[in-house]
Amino acid sequence: MDEKAVYAKDVIQLARLGLVGDRKNLETYIRRIMRQARNDDSRLADKLGELLVANPTQDAPLREAGGSFAPVDRDTRLQLVRHEDPVVLEYAPILASKVYEPLKLVVGEHNNKALLEKNNLSPSRTLLFTGRPGVGKTLSAKWLAHTLDLPLLTLDLSTVISSLLGRTGINLKYVLDYAKSVECVLLLDEFDAIAKQRGDNTELGELKRLVTVLLQEIDLWPSSSILVAATNHGELLDRAVWRRFDQVLEFPLPSNAELGSIIDLYFGEQSKELGKWKSHIVSISQGKSFSDIQRFAHRVLRKSLISDISIEDAVQSILSSEYADLGLQQRKAMAIKLKKEGMSDRKISSMLGIARDTLRKLEPETK
Ligand SMILES: Nc1ncnc2c1ncn2[C@@H]1O[C@H](COP(=O)(O)OP(=O)(O)OP(=O)(O)O)[C@@H](O)[C@H]1O
Ligand SMILES: [Mg+2]
Repeated sequence: MDEKAVYAKDVIQLARLGLVGDRKNLETYIRRIMRQARNDDSRLADKLGELLVANPTQDAPLREAGGSFAPVDRDTRLQLVRHEDPVVLEYAPILASKVYEPLKLVVGEHNNKALLEKNNLSPSRTLLFTGRPGVGKTLSAKWLAHTLDLPLLTLDLSTVISSLLGRTGINLKYVLDYAKSVECVLLLDEFDAIAKQRGDNTELGELKRLVTVLLQEIDLWPSSSILVAATNHGELLDRAVWRRFDQVLEFPLPSNAELGSIIDLYFGEQSKELGKWKSHIVSISQGKSFSDIQRFAHRVLRKSLISDISIEDAVQSILSSEYADLGLQQRKAMAIKLKKEGMSDRKISSMLGIARDTLRKLEPETK
């Protein structure tokens, strides 16, 4: 069929659907044209996208937010998604290569969509981020949107489910329809909220429907937007759910080798002022998350400013109060550790409340 015939066919089909008032299929058809137009007529695609979101049904009111339309709950008028555009990043996440390499590839795929499509391939559309709290899942979704220069829409499923149960399905649908109609990164945060609620008998039917809707959406997600689901309870999702995603990325805790640069990142210029404490902070940060380490750094920086003391003294003061809770054996073990790190007996004694005589007798080999 030549271009004109395709055009005529589309116009006729649109007219037919519009005249019979078949809104659902009309929207689907507009979306299809929008996707086709993405490559050769991006202005048409954008215009159609705008029309889709700016022309609400009675059931799906939309309200202007940050220059574009974002879905709101019909009863409460609360905005359902957080909308960031442009996405501002203070710093890029520090990522293990098993996470960073696939993410970089996703960026490359979306930057070369036309090349992929010419070869009958589409870029990765749906990603599942799993990992402990504070390891950079949300930050990486932000980084993705920032790097691709796309808006970030964030939907926290745990709050949507708890506060709007009963309307969750409809609200979720508004959000998904909206996210599909604009080029964006959609972050479904606390994704396990859905799985967790499944065992609960109340509203079971509603939630089952919700899971079904969501899984179908993941299967049919368009390649114009990226759907990122994040969870710190990946184990609550069954494997069938994992398989729905184009890619599953498991975010690890910071590795020991990374700890030095993480501490430099959070202390900034003042990292140099940590002196001997730096290696101590590295050793006590093992097994902690990025956000734990960041919280500690901020406490130290605040303490140093407010009490007008050096960074070293601020670290010592904060750790003294933390170590005060330890039992005697633990404090002795900590004393040996600090001795090995080159800390003076005087400092160790005042921090840990152990007499200097006792300290002298502590054998370094009693590890
Ligand atoms: N990989 C990282 N590199 C640098 N900073 C990080 C990283 N991960 C976390 N942080 C810091 O910790 C904060 C919290 O991280 P983030 O919100 O991304 O964690 P999360 O994995 O989404 O956790 P949760 O499961 O609790 O939502 C970030 O704002 C950032 O300051
Ligand atoms: Mg998060």
